[in-house]
Amino acid sequence: MTYRLVCPKCRKEISEENWVYKHSCGSPLTVEYDLNGLKIDPGEIKRREWSLWRYKELIPAEKLVSLGEGCTPLVERDFFALKLYLKLDYLNPTGSFKDRGTAVTLSKVAEFKFSGVIEDSSGNAGISVAYYASSAGIKAKIFVPKDAPSGKIAFIKASGAEVVECNSREEAHEKAVKEAELSDYVYVGHLWNPYFIEGTKTIAFEIAEQLGWRTPDAAVVPVASGTLLLGLYKGFKELYELGLVEKVPRLIAVQGASCAPVYEALYGKKPSGCSSLADGLRVKNPPRLNEIVRTIKETQGCCIVVDNYDIHLYSSFAYKKGFIVEPTSITVFAALAKAVEEGILDKGEEVVAPLTGSGLKIVE
Ligand SMILES: Cc1ncc(COP(=O)(O)O)c(C=O)c1O
Ligand SMILES: [Zn+2]
Repeated sequence: MTYRLVCPKCRKEISEENWVYKHSCGSPLTVEYDLNGLKIDPGEIKRREWSLWRYKELIPAEKLVSLGEGCTPLVERDFFALKLYLKLDYLNPTGSFKDRGTAVTLSKVAEFKFSGVIEDSSGNAGISVAYYASSAGIKAKIFVPKDAPSGKIAFIKASGAEVVECNSREEAHEKAVKEAELSDYVYVGHLWNPYFIEGTKTIAFEIAEQLGWRTPDAAVVPVASGTLLLGLYKGFKELYELGLVEKVPRLIAVQGASCAPVYEALYGKKPSGCSSLADGLRVKNPPRLNEIVRTIKETQGCCIVVDNYDIHLYSSFAYKKGFIVEPTSITVFAALAKAVEEGILDKGEEVVAPLTGSGLKIVE
């Protein structure tokens, strides 16, 4: 594959070997491909291995670290009078969609032969990085807020990774970056890492392939740092530019009421309510905020906010329907109901909703 690592703000190309997590101008980096002349044959993809690595032309890494990520089921339901497709990404190896981003990022770490990685996370990304690292003999140090669910912290520790508990999500990030400057471990923080989105975007490739190389009308996506939303967009856009699908779906972001920077940037007001149960949705300053807002506007999407009351209400809905997902993912069911109620989604519309995190990790 031909690709370049670039700063989208000043259009400078960055050398991969330096492994900087952001450009000197402060912007996160992105991976760009030369799609002209690239031929992707759906028939050939069909014959390839049953994992996200089947889309190798659009992944900037060799498969060096893998636990069998991707190719999760897409199940059709008629909830909320929609033609709804649930993408069961909580069935990934460590129980969340993060494994897509981690597999690509850690493969890159292995390519450059770094001995250890540093990550900051509210839980799922930390678990994912910890297990992918340990499976490849790479050391991991994970900075987490101390109020992360105890089950998630226990899982990280069980992998053999070192865990540093911090006072807040923000402190976890600051300490992780400082530690990386002082040690020979490399910072792979998923809020910034460009390879992470190259992994998350494969969810769009799979949805399109599972629908027979079509895209749905809309996608309803939980957003914290935006790696999933931006990955979906990048994946669908690349397929569109390659002529493999006819449209990019409308992207509807879901945020928690107590931490809704995307909602605030879009509508200029702060929502009220508490969403402490959605522990995966609490990034106050997403580095890619402008990109997220631009993407939502470009696809004619919007942002829906949910709170603990909504999460409680739709927890029993999700469980009774057979989906053992964590509260952060339950926000999606609440948002789908609101979107239909408020006329944001029309009855009968084709909508995809990724179910991002397993509920088995939060059992006390
Ligand atoms: C289960 C789950 N869903 C969604 C998200 C949001 O992902 P992103 O940070 O890519 O917006 C997270 C983030 O931690 C998560 O753990
Ligand atoms: Zn720059």
